[in-house]
Amino acid sequence: MKWNIAVLPGDGVGTEVMAEGKKALQAVGKKYGQEFQFQTGIVGGAAIDSCGVALPADVVPMCKRSHAVLFGAVGGPKWDNPSAQVRPEQAILGLRKGLNLYANLRPVQVYPVLANATSLKPEVIRGVDIMVVRELTGGLYFGRPQRRWTSARGRQAVDTLRYSEKEIERVLHTGFELARMRSKKLASVDKANILESSRLWREMAAEIATEYPDVQVEHILVDTAAMRLVRAPTSFDVIVTENMFGDILTDEASVLGGSMGMMASASLGGSASALGPSRRRVRRLGMYEPIHGTAPDIAGQNKANPIGMIRSVALMLRYSLGLYKEADAVETAVRSVLEAGYRTADIAGVGERSIGTREMGDRIAASLS
Ligand code: IPM
Ligand code: MG
Repeated sequence: MKWNIAVLPGDGVGTEVMAEGKKALQAVGKKYGQEFQFQTGIVGGAAIDSCGVALPADVVPMCKRSHAVLFGAVGGPKWDNPSAQVRPEQAILGLRKGLNLYANLRPVQVYPVLANATSLKPEVIRGVDIMVVRELTGGLYFGRPQRRWTSARGRQAVDTLRYSEKEIERVLHTGFELARMRSKKLASVDKANILESSRLWREMAAEIATEYPDVQVEHILVDTAAMRLVRAPTSFDVIVTENMFGDILTDEASVLGGSMGMMASASLGGSASALGPSRRRVRRLGMYEPIHGTAPDIAGQNKANPIGMIRSVALMLRYSLGLYKEADAVETAVRSVLEAGYRTADIAGVGERSIGTREMGDRIAASLS
């Protein structure tokens, strides 16, 4: 079949890892008889430079016409002025909201051959396999009012943490559905001892749990969850949480996998009951991106790890295109290249030789053909 993929490389290493993601996708397509057509859009700092806004008006409609969206990364020192009206991050927030991608899936796995690449003890991280589901279109990121003003008492600022029942419900369902497909364990993370929005979240998690009697649910406060993630990470399977908590916990969790450069993500809209091979085969529009940023310190030097992007391609094949064999093949190719000893600088041990972004992409593509 022919697939239309919207490609948004963005800035910095975003463009470098995107090239390798496309390479892997072409290789797997060639092997399994799938054809991928790319439509490229300019977003982030690159778009600010060329047309004055981070998310040009034609990008969201182009994504809506596609089967799925691949996203690199946006931002960089050139556009870093925090008081600027136009900022690269507006591209990513605008895409999430504009495409209604309310559920962000961030898998955290430890490759046994990389057990020494992390700062944690190998025995603590051995066997880690967590799926974090982060709410992506609500909470503090989008709540209004969000503003700053000056009063007689000095400068003041407000952000708003607001959630509706509908917003909480759909992402909780995504968490429960995923738990059902995995080891049937779900941790719902909140701050119900302090926040009203968290009390609503916890109440709804308990209500929805009655629809999933086969899933074992626990409610954990976010601070406790942060601690347990590094003390006993294997005690987690699926974690579901609101936007800001999920942002923070997933950076923390990325340490378990050895490097941010390894981590992939899927941002999904559509129905929570359309997740995988065991469910109805309904395709969900999704956007797929590595969780790392533009890494200005190494941008343009062929040093970035493309694996987070390539694994995002695998998530796209699975969740948006329903191509499970192909998704597995990409994941297997990544694993075998790592097992053969190839490393980019971020995951190379002391004294270990490393290869560049393109070489890593070539190895993975070669392993796919
Ligand atoms: C992420 C990033 C983004 C976020 C930034 C770039 C807006 O940190 O995807 O986790 O905060 O959501
Ligand atoms: Mg983040």
